[in-house]
Amino acid sequence: MEGWESGRFQLPAKQLSLTRGPRVRISPPPPRKNVELNPIERRYRALVETGREVRKLYPANPNDEGISFPGEVLSRCYTDYFRAQEYRPDPKGLRPAREAIATYYTEQGAAVDPERILLTSGTSESFFYLFSLLAEPSDNILTPTPSYPLFDEIARLAHVQLKPYRLDEARAWAIDLDSVREAINERTRAIVIVSPHNPTGMVADVGTLRQIAAIANERGLPIICDEVFSEFYYGPGSFPRAIAVAQPDLCFTLNGISKMLALPAMKCSWIAMTGEPKRVAVAVDRLAHIADTFLSCHYPIQRALPTILTRGKSFLESYRAEVAQRRATALEILYTCPALRFHPPMGGFYLMAEVTKGRWQDENDCICDLLTQHGLFPHPGYFYDHEQGIHLVLSTMLEPNRIQEGLTRLCAAVTSS
Ligand SMILES: Cc1ncc(COP(=O)(O)O)c(C=O)c1O
Repeated sequence: MEGWESGRFQLPAKQLSLTRGPRVRISPPPPRKNVELNPIERRYRALVETGREVRKLYPANPNDEGISFPGEVLSRCYTDYFRAQEYRPDPKGLRPAREAIATYYTEQGAAVDPERILLTSGTSESFFYLFSLLAEPSDNILTPTPSYPLFDEIARLAHVQLKPYRLDEARAWAIDLDSVREAINERTRAIVIVSPHNPTGMVADVGTLRQIAAIANERGLPIICDEVFSEFYYGPGSFPRAIAVAQPDLCFTLNGISKMLALPAMKCSWIAMTGEPKRVAVAVDRLAHIADTFLSCHYPIQRALPTILTRGKSFLESYRAEVAQRRATALEILYTCPALRFHPPMGGFYLMAEVTKGRWQDENDCICDLLTQHGLFPHPGYFYDHEQGIHLVLSTMLEPNRIQEGLTRLCAAVTSS
């Protein structure tokens, strides 16, 4: 194992995953997988070309589903900005924005120092920064499977291997801790937790978070907690956050206003870093260096963030209630369907249901048939790397008429198949 080469830090071996010198890349990213259209996408496009209407059952963009942050709050912030324009960027993001994020965590019982928060233009970018920071080509990072598909592409661009650990469907998609332990090898550089999880709706409980933190600490590994759906928690008590309930030696908590405040277009997310002060300091410094290269987070939104987080509280309350109501409607309909088995999601915008009856051979057969015969388009499990039986990924936050009509038709189609 090599040391930290820039000479700015002299740290013991345990911190080496954060302490690598500049890296020289001589190869392009490995080729993309699945560049050919899959049969489902081919069928969908062919149907749409003929003018056939197709009801998509997986979308979860709040704006497309009739939920929008109050425009007047944003326009006031933007008007203020454009009346007195300035641009004095900070690689980590403007300090008042970081303070507002720290306050958000304080109000939820978790302490984060504003100096250890870094703004990005999206959680996908946060992952890209972190994968680039933590791993060298041929190092690996542990991610859950099933999983939302962006990880593959981000890892490919960052020249990092992903190693899957299992979510156990029989236990409501709980994290299989043995598979986490088994997946770790000498090239592992981090463990990613997505909670609430896309697409299963699993939320890691306190015990699980503590055990993962213990595994990570024992191996000197950081954990990366994707909490973009944390405001949409349907379980008992308050949402379990690793940084509040466990003691990871190094933890990167990811969130942003895309899901939290239904503002995907505003491109503002963050990485909050907590843990052993020395390791955190190295991480902050290195990430600030990466961020300084791009300064990607839109400046006016950084200026607006304190107002958005404060003034957005009442909106968030009604938004959460609306999403919870839609989920309840979805579950009510799906419970009437004897051919579907699922665990009610404990958080987030999705669930994954297993088709337990029917004449379909596999997921391609199932979805192509639903498309052609019924004009319905759920996603198959294999889009999320789940390749057992036939699974459908469904959004539980479709606009009320769509959820009612779409899921009722889906149940009828699956039951009659
Ligand atoms: C679990 C999860 N994390 C991160 C993201 C990306 O979030 P952002 O919109 O902040 O890039 C998504 C997008 O759907 C997601 O589902």
